[in-house]
Amino acid sequence: MKNIVILISGGGSNMQALVECVAQKHWAEQGIARVAAVVSNRADAGGLAYAASKGIETAVLSHRLFDGRVQFDAALMALIDGFKPDLVLLAGFMRILTPAFTQHYAGKILNIHPSILPSFTGLHTHEAALAAGVKVHGATVHGVTAQLDFGPIVVQSCVAVLPQDTAETLAKRVLATEHFIYPQALTWWVDGRMIWRDGGIEILNPAGELPASQTYFAPT
Ligand code: GAR
Repeated sequence: MKNIVILISGGGSNMQALVECVAQKHWAEQGIARVAAVVSNRADAGGLAYAASKGIETAVLSHRLFDGRVQFDAALMALIDGFKPDLVLLAGFMRILTPAFTQHYAGKILNIHPSILPSFTGLHTHEAALAAGVKVHGATVHGVTAQLDFGPIVVQSCVAVLPQDTAETLAKRVLATEHFIYPQALTWWVDGRMIWRDGGIEILNPAGELPASQTYFAPT
């Protein structure tokens, strides 16, 4: 049984999509994979109640209790490691991670970011996309490295930017695609098709060849 630990800071809709994916595929019943824990740095993260309602262990570790990132990340690693994770999924976990943390989980940690990386790293990606006037926007699932919002790309979604879009309407459409591509990435990992090699990630189809697409285009 593979253990997945999901880190959140807020509403946790991506976490919910991942939990639903695990349930729909019956991985836990088959002894394949389970969500071992949902961990938040904020006690008021809305997603904690959802996880608990699904019988998933939850834990809160407030970054405010620590003098700095190094100390917080060390405690966070100890907490996560208590769940013996095979995969760590950042799902709206709004913390900049130290190199010690990213190295510790190298090759087994993914993040979802609300932009088509490498465009629009950091915060306020939807505002930045509108300000730049781009006509496509989206989200990225990627392997986590020491560099913020960098690392090998697993799958990306694209949504059309409409003339009447606000940051809120755009965020909503991008988030809907996140709920599709993150479970897709998790499924590739669980199926043993996600290969971390030479600093990159390859997704193989069952025959061992590269798959047709690691792109999701939202219908307009
Ligand atoms: C999502 O849009 C996710 O991509 C983003 O935060 C939101 C969390 O929503 N993550 C980042 O910006 C990380 N840099 P959720 O809590 O409903 O999943």
